[in-house]
Amino acid sequence: MTQDLTILGLESSCDDTAAAIVRQRRGAAPEILASIVHGQSDLHAAFGGVVPEIAARAHAEKLDICVEEALATSNLTLKDIDAVAVTAGPGLIGGVLSGVMCAKGLSAGLGVPLVGVNHLAGHALTPRLTDQVAYPYLMLLVSGGHCQFLIVRGAEDFSRLGGTIDDAPGEAFDKTARLLGLAQPGGPAVQAAAERGDATRFRFPRPLLDRPDCDMSFSGLKTALLRARDAVIAEKSGLTEQDRADLCAGFQAAIVDVLAEKTRRALALYLDENPSAPMLAVAGGVAANTAIRARLETVCAELDVTFTAPPLSLCTDNAAMIAYAGLERFQTGARDDMTLAARPRWPLDKAAPAMLGSGKKGAKA
Ligand code: KG4
Ligand code: ZN
Repeated sequence: MTQDLTILGLESSCDDTAAAIVRQRRGAAPEILASIVHGQSDLHAAFGGVVPEIAARAHAEKLDICVEEALATSNLTLKDIDAVAVTAGPGLIGGVLSGVMCAKGLSAGLGVPLVGVNHLAGHALTPRLTDQVAYPYLMLLVSGGHCQFLIVRGAEDFSRLGGTIDDAPGEAFDKTARLLGLAQPGGPAVQAAAERGDATRFRFPRPLLDRPDCDMSFSGLKTALLRARDAVIAEKSGLTEQDRADLCAGFQAAIVDVLAEKTRRALALYLDENPSAPMLAVAGGVAANTAIRARLETVCAELDVTFTAPPLSLCTDNAAMIAYAGLERFQTGARDDMTLAARPRWPLDKAAPAMLGSGKKGAKA
């Protein structure tokens, strides 16, 4: 690297509007000077999922506020920005467009380069931002909108080993919470109930474990849970706290088993490449789940693989990861111009077949 770089990043692909400033000084670790996130959950709460049109309008209203807050937090002005990085996909088209248009305006107005970033690359490169992890590493991206295994070899070099063919695990947690009358987002509520439950009372399916690949399926779990819930209600005319806890424990145990077994398979493929210091990194909101984390740590320990998870605020959607992924692209010479398009679908690994399904949070890459 020949110069210090200060990058402004924008993120608006789903239901978080975010702006961040990341600085890379010569020979030093990258630094997050500001990371501002304005969530929209209140706007969508009544609808049971993200409403794309509402999301896009809210992004358009909030983006410049986020940029102002990021500049104020880092004590900088727009003149200090060397390049603008923006999520150009995948995600909800209206939201992505809001971000791309805002970034184009800033880039043209300031006369600085524009760099389009794949949202998934932002997640996948986060361990390099937080811990300077060396390539290649294995990433499990597991959130409300994504679930995939990636070998990360470079800023633009990803191999997708497999992923969900329908729902993402976060969606399954959220739907389970809804079916049991627990609070949204469902992950933390289901986890808390599961800790008080008996995981052996209900046995839920572990889909696709009979297939040798790294693909997963979570949509059948909610149907199984619904049937089990209805059977209890039919028998006892209602659900007790213990019934809820046992249902949550059984559900979570199924998710943990599937993720652990598929992680084992993904690690085997990754380890075939003989990385010198093998590492599994997780990102995404579901990575907050303590049972999932504990099991993944066990799998890694058995195989002598280091396990790492970025802090939760950088695991979930944010713009620091976009600024950082933009920075890595910028350093490889990548530049975009006013033709940069918003791409609702944008697979990281062009060689891998397209994933099926599209969850509440929009199209999966
Ligand atoms: O990454 P994220 O903030 O947003 C996107 O999906 O893009 O992830 C949110 C998801 C929600 O579905 C939420 O229920 C889930 O992460 N989640 C959890 C936990 N905390 C959040 N799932 C399981 N266990 C948790 N502790
Ligand atoms: Zn995301």
